[in-house]
Parts: sequence; C-alpha cells; structure tokens
Amino acid sequence: EKGMSIEELAYNLTMGEGEILGLLFSKGIKPDGVQTLDKEMVKMVCKEYEVEVIDADPVKFEEMAKKNEILDEDDLDKLQDRPPVLTIMGHVDHGKTTLLDHIRKSKVAASEAGGITQGIGAYKVMVPVDGKLQPCVFLDTPGHEAFGAMRARGARVTDIAIIVVAADDGIRPQTNEAIAHAKAAGVPIVIAINKIDKDGANPERVMQELSSIGLMPEDWGGDVPMVQISALKGENIDDLLETVMLVAELQELKANPDRNAKGTVIEAGLDKSKGPVATFIIQNGTLKRGDVVVCGEAFGKVRALFEDGGKRVDQVGPSIPVQVIGLSNVPIAGDEFEVVASLDIARERAEARAELLWDERISAKAGDGKVTLSSLA
Ligand code: GTP
Ligand code: MG
Repeated sequence: EKGMSIEELAYNLTMGEGEILGLLFSKGIKPDGVQTLDKEMVKMVCKEYEVEVIDADPVKFEEMAKKNEILDEDDLDKLQDRPPVLTIMGHVDHGKTTLLDHIRKSKVAASEAGGITQGIGAYKVMVPVDGKLQPCVFLDTPGHEAFGAMRARGARVTDIAIIVVAADDGIRPQTNEAIAHAKAAGVPIVIAINKIDKDGANPERVMQELSSIGLMPEDWGGDVPMVQISALKGENIDDLLETVMLVAELQELKANPDRNAKGTVIEAGLDKSKGPVATFIIQNGTLKRGDVVVCGEAFGKVRALFEDGGKRVDQVGPSIPVQVIGLSNVPIAGDEFEVVASLDIARERAEARAELLWDERISAKAGDGKVTLSSLA
C-alpha cells in the first residue's frame, strides 16, 4: 500500500511539516526515518484538520507511480513525454569517461545551440532517433557513491543504467556493484561491452559472465540489451545510443510540465561570488526564476537558473538539469526539492527538516553510544 510523506501531506494541506509532526507526536506516533505515513495516519491527520481525503484510482496511479515515483494523481491528465536520464557506470578504467566524451563531442557537434550542459555534472545531449534529434540527459556520477547516496535517500533519478564492461577484463567488483545498484533501484540495464578494438578482447566471455549472474543477453534470447563498442575508436556508439533510446521509449517516460517543479539535488557547493549553488534535476513540473524552493534544510527564492554550459534561462522543464542560485545554504546531493507557495512555508519546512535530522542524529547517537563524524556531517 502506498503511503504519503509528511512533506507531501503538508504540501497538500498547505501547512508546515512541523505542525503535522507536532500533531503526530501528540498522538503518540513517531514517524519512521523515511517519514512515510500510511493511509490511516493520513486520514487521521486530515480528520483533525477537517479536510476530506479522496482516494485516487489506485490501479492507474500505482501504474504511473511505478514508472515515476515523483508523479501525483493530479498529473495523470497532463502527462507529456520527457527525455530519459541516463547514468554510465562500471569498473575503474573500463572506459566510462571515454564513452561520455565521445558521445558529448560527436553528438554535440551535430546539434544546434550546442545542446550540452557543461560543468554541472549533468549533460543534455541530442541523439538521433529515427532521423530526428532528441534530447537525453547523462549524469556524470563520479564513482557509485553519488548514486548510492541518492538511493539511500530514496531518490530515483536515473531512468536507465548504462554499464560499461571492458571486453579484455570482464566483470570486476565495481561492475557487480553497479549492477546491484541498478537492480535495487529498479532501473533497466543496458550493457556496453567496451574496448572491442583491443588485443585480447573477448566479448563472448563477457556475455557468458553476465549470463552467469542472471543478465542474459538479448542476442541469446534474454532480455538485457548488450552492444559491443569501442569508446576510443567511436565504434558502434550510435548503436548503443539507439538501443538506449529504444529502452527509454518502452519506459514511456512522462511528466507534467504544467505544475510546480519538484526533483532532486544532484550536486551542490559554495561559490565564492554566487553563494550556495545547487544542481537540480527537474523530475516533474517546470522550475521558473522567482519560484520559492525548499530542499532539505535549505530554501530560498530562485534568483537565477543556468543550463547548457552557463546559459541563463528563465525556466526549465522535466528531466533537464539546471544550476540554481538563491538558496539560503548548501543542500546535500540526493535531497529532494520542491516549489512551495511562499518563503514562510519554505522556511518552516526547512526548519522542520533540520529538526527532524537533528533528532535522527541524536537517536543515532543513542543507538550505538557514539557519534561518528559522518553522522554529524
Ligand atoms: P575511471 O573514471 O577511472 O573509473 O575510468 P573510466 O571508466 O572513466 O575509464 P577511461 O574512460 O578513463 O578509460 C581508461 C583507459 O582505457 C584510457 O586509457 C582509455 O583511453 C582506455 N579506453 C577507453 N575506451 C577504450 C576503447 O574502446 N579501446 C581502447 N583500446 N582503450 C580504451
Ligand atoms: Mg572516468
């Protein structure tokens, strides 16, 4: 049964999370770490505020929710296609960066307006599908930590995992890790068997290894697409992209651009002149300059939005990564963000989140009798 987060409930009731938390505590309910309330709790809170609860058509909603946990019932009538978000993963030196470099260079050259986002760890690239250029977004996650951190926070940002395996090296520890991450997140996998140009390359052996861990190649009657490439020589990269876009098409990726934005922080830092800077990936809705956002313990009015290698934009739609300026402090990668109606609401929610995190840290301390640096970070 699908629950509702306190954040969501607060948003729907247009009140602060703090108030709802207070009510729950007064009823002896201590929400769990992920703050998901079941239907009964939601009903109880709504009853307290004399708000009627309307059950959405569960089948239709669950179907959509499975595809994109970020969608609400209200979005169902206004869904439009959105570009896929892709992450390249794999063992050290198997060729992830070379592959991304090749995709960015060759495909960027082919697109007008240099369809690429630079320096924000996420790239919009135009790739040809049926002779037409279509946008897709590559997340440049250095290692799997970022992916893992986001997953730990329940964020599912990636639509497809492209796992690179070197044909002269085969499955290695980080290959397994990447596969485990993708499986745990329920993300479809496309395998890029790389370095087929090398002496000692043995793509068949890689396919054998992969089938032995349950990833059966499509060519052998299984359901995992595998494309043999040379990232260095640029061989079969078009095949790989076509395959990826086909998998994306089957996912029927949708979002509702006609609503307040929500999504996930993919990286953040402090810029000497700009102050806190965060890269958001929009997962639903459209983010506009002047919107008030709350993300984790940070909040603020969006002063400026930067896309495509520093290009200033007034608004951005679903799947597109964007650099945001105007936040009170630096959020954490994996934090969710959402547009709210006013700075007051944003401040209250950010404070409620900070309090909750503080409580979690205290109870973590009580739990094992010591405080580690990371639990205070
Ligand atoms: P990390 O970021 O360290 O995890 O590595 P990576 O997966 O990004 O690998 P990277 O792209 O840096 O490539 C590692 C080495 O393999 C480099 O020397 C590349 O030139 C080489 N390489 C990558 N792809 C190919 C290929 O298709 N063929 C050959 N022969 N070499 C390749
Ligand atoms: Mg690399």
